[in-house]
Amino acid sequence: SRWYDADIERVLITEEEIRAKTDELAKQVADDFAGIDQVVLVGVLKGAAMFMADFARALGRVGPAVELEFMAASSYGQGTTSSGVVRVLKDLDRDIAGKHVLVVEDIVDSGLTLSWLLKYLASRSAASVTVVTLFRKPAAMRSAPPLKYIGFDLPPEFVVGYGLDFGERYRELPYVAVLKPEVYARG
Ligand code: PRP
Ligand code: MN
Ligand code: MG
Repeated sequence: SRWYDADIERVLITEEEIRAKTDELAKQVADDFAGIDQVVLVGVLKGAAMFMADFARALGRVGPAVELEFMAASSYGQGTTSSGVVRVLKDLDRDIAGKHVLVVEDIVDSGLTLSWLLKYLASRSAASVTVVTLFRKPAAMRSAPPLKYIGFDLPPEFVVGYGLDFGERYRELPYVAVLKPEVYARG
């Protein structure tokens, strides 16, 4: 058994479902980017680390060449609700002017992180900026910035795993799950 087994209430999205969806998203992106030979993937640390790694390899099998860039932006701090304040903890290393940029996010909830990021990237004169997110929460359907590629819609519950954390923990879970109420209560 794993250290986290006792903390899991239920698994929402399995490892196999994530893998299949990642391949499907990569195929969609490859189709849409046919004729373009280079795409810059901008992964949003830390949550998107897992999806970025898997998506880049899936796209590499069917699509254009990719460059990997990372930005670190954090809005949640330690809690379970967005603070509304986005902090840039790590900027792009390279100029994206004239490049086709695909932002890779793990989850869009309030959309605050992504709205901020898209404004930021727009000021850098990319040839295009599109977004792939593996997960979307209900709040994002109302307020969110444009999402071209969406993996799964999730219920309005706080979830962890596959990059998603609760107080920096549970990111390494291979699936997405809801924790037991007492775990959230522990903080
Ligand atoms: C989480 C998640 C998204 C963002 C979504 O990141 O990874 O980046 O929140 O929420 P929003 O749509 O309400 O802005 P977080 O700020 O927790 O940082 P992390 O990726 O380092 O966990
Ligand atoms: Mn994040
Ligand atoms: Mg987080």
